[in-house]
Amino acid sequence: MLVKQKAVKDSQTTITELMIPSYANFGGKIHGGIVLSLMDKVAYACASKHAGTYCVTVTVDKVEFLQPIEVGELVSLHASVNHVGNSSMVVGIKVIAENVKQGTVKHTNSSYFTMVAKDDANSPTPVPKLVLETKEQVRRFIEAIRLKEIKKTINTEMDDAVSNADVIHASEILKSERCVISYVN
Ligand SMILES: CC(C)(COP(=O)(O)OP(=O)(O)OC[C@H]1O[C@@H](n2cnc3c(N)ncnc32)[C@H](O)[C@@H]1OP(=O)(O)O)[C@@H](O)C(=O)NCCC(=O)NCCS
Repeated sequence: MLVKQKAVKDSQTTITELMIPSYANFGGKIHGGIVLSLMDKVAYACASKHAGTYCVTVTVDKVEFLQPIEVGELVSLHASVNHVGNSSMVVGIKVIAENVKQGTVKHTNSSYFTMVAKDDANSPTPVPKLVLETKEQVRRFIEAIRLKEIKKTINTEMDDAVSNADVIHASEILKSERCVISYVN
């Protein structure tokens, strides 16, 4: 059934998972990849609830692991649709790690996943409009538009940096960097 609009709260999703020893790296902390995988899951759950269709992950922005997560902690991932385009949705995710024994809670990271709704032919398909019921939801929607604009500029500059790296003047450009140019041939 085609739904024309949905409120943010209708697709808000939280996943809570216990951090077990097999999720840890050699340093005893939880692998970043485990957290990323959980973030992708919650983003999918949230986006597909809003879209009412299958969705795919297109981009992941602002991934920073601010604090390590320990084995035994309960990790909760809160996801909300912050913005919708035609077929795309920006899902904001906040990750919280809780040590139930010590009674401590820490915010380990926040990120934005862009998800696209797909139809049965695997083509992008329109999603319902987003009903913004609080000032915070309005703020996040506007913020997402601004971040999209900034990203466009950064992507153009990154493409330029990749294709126009000035190797000819490398010794001058790199003189204060921690590298040694030692061509083999
Ligand atoms: C991303 C994808 C859906 C774009 O498909 P497309 O046929 O080129 O469709 P469009 O150009 O119409 O883009 C569809 C939407 O995606 C958005 N989009 C496409 N590329 C994007 C990017 N790099 N960043 C942000 N949004 C993007 C478009 O802005 C558009 O949004 P809108 O409908 O809200 O305006 C398609 O390339 C795809 O399916 N990629 C694979 C995704 C996947 O498999 N993910 C799992 C990774 S393992």
